[in-house]
Amino acid sequence: MVMEKIPCLDLKAQHQQIKAEVFELFEKVYEKTAFSGGPFVEEFEKNFTQYTQTRFAAGVSNGTTALHLAMLVLGIGEGDEVILPANTFIATAWGPSHAGATPVFVDCTSDTWQIDAKKIGEKITSKTKAVIGVHLYGQPCNIDAVEEICKKHNIFFIEDAAQAQGANYKGKRVGGFGEMACFSFYPGKNLGACGEAGGITTNNEKYIIHLQGLRNHGCKVRYYHDEVGYNYRMGGLEAASLIVKLKYLEEWNNKRRAIAKRYLSEIKNPKIKMQSQPEWADSVFHLFVVTTEDKDGFCDYLNQNNISPAFHYPVPCHLQKAYAHLGYKEGDFPNSEYLASHCVSLPMYAELSDSQVDHVINVINLYK
Ligand SMILES: Cc1ncc(COP(=O)(O)O)c(C=O)c1O
Repeated sequence: MVMEKIPCLDLKAQHQQIKAEVFELFEKVYEKTAFSGGPFVEEFEKNFTQYTQTRFAAGVSNGTTALHLAMLVLGIGEGDEVILPANTFIATAWGPSHAGATPVFVDCTSDTWQIDAKKIGEKITSKTKAVIGVHLYGQPCNIDAVEEICKKHNIFFIEDAAQAQGANYKGKRVGGFGEMACFSFYPGKNLGACGEAGGITTNNEKYIIHLQGLRNHGCKVRYYHDEVGYNYRMGGLEAASLIVKLKYLEEWNNKRRAIAKRYLSEIKNPKIKMQSQPEWADSVFHLFVVTTEDKDGFCDYLNQNNISPAFHYPVPCHLQKAYAHLGYKEGDFPNSEYLASHCVSLPMYAELSDSQVDHVINVINLYK
């Protein structure tokens, strides 16, 4: 039997399972015409605080606006600097940039591919206001080490948990560390909406009250605007889809963990390197990224063998055209640059069958 090509991500497989349940809740959103903000967003926020073991959550329009709002609520703006890893999805840097601040990049470690806490100190200046720790590919970053530096220098720590809904750091859910955590519910995320959506969690009541105003045109009372605000609300249909999907997130994350466990233990090709998994990090494997010297040759080989690779991310933030004015150059962050030019994402989603996982493992073990 000819096997169909295995995609890197198959959203259809997930949505087929829950379609009826999601559509049923969509009907209720329609009945109430609660399309922007409203009761479904509030219900999702309540459920998400329970899930993340935090006190407050604010649903917003996407993960990028979550990061922008986090900056604004912390008073970060023009003239300020915010430290973040060079090897993240670019939106982590958009947060500070949209607030008028300057992103300052730091290299990742060569094994976990997370921000290298030891390199943060040398980037701190009198303008530094915060560090954004990214839980890359679903694995929590080295939170204690990053927080320790932030405390020492009296600057904020913010989590970019866009890729890590449900991950645990030393047994505690991400989302409750630092000042705030920003989530993306982009459709391809472990918890992804039927549409664009994002969220912020925090244990600080002052922040949540400010966030609720800012996302809604800067007003708490309709048509009375306390400050320049934004239309960054979450939609009702998106919230409804998230209410349904949150119920399955643990099950889906555990399936991803089981697939990752197989990849980690059964792929034994010395040409393939994987993200190391420290014992304090319980990843939710949003992506399963490997590196190999001949990336193009490896990808051709995967494609010829019915496996679709993907790349996260081919250009590190400091070498993007958008940040050319900051004056970074090739060679500034060797680990991030190596990762960018050698990374290949393997198929990773909860609905991968055992035989598909067998195929990926066998094919990679036969790669020469
Ligand atoms: C690490 C990271 N930060 C931020 C974002 C931005 O989220 P969104 O696409 O919902 O704006 C994403 C998602 O794409 C991401 O992966």
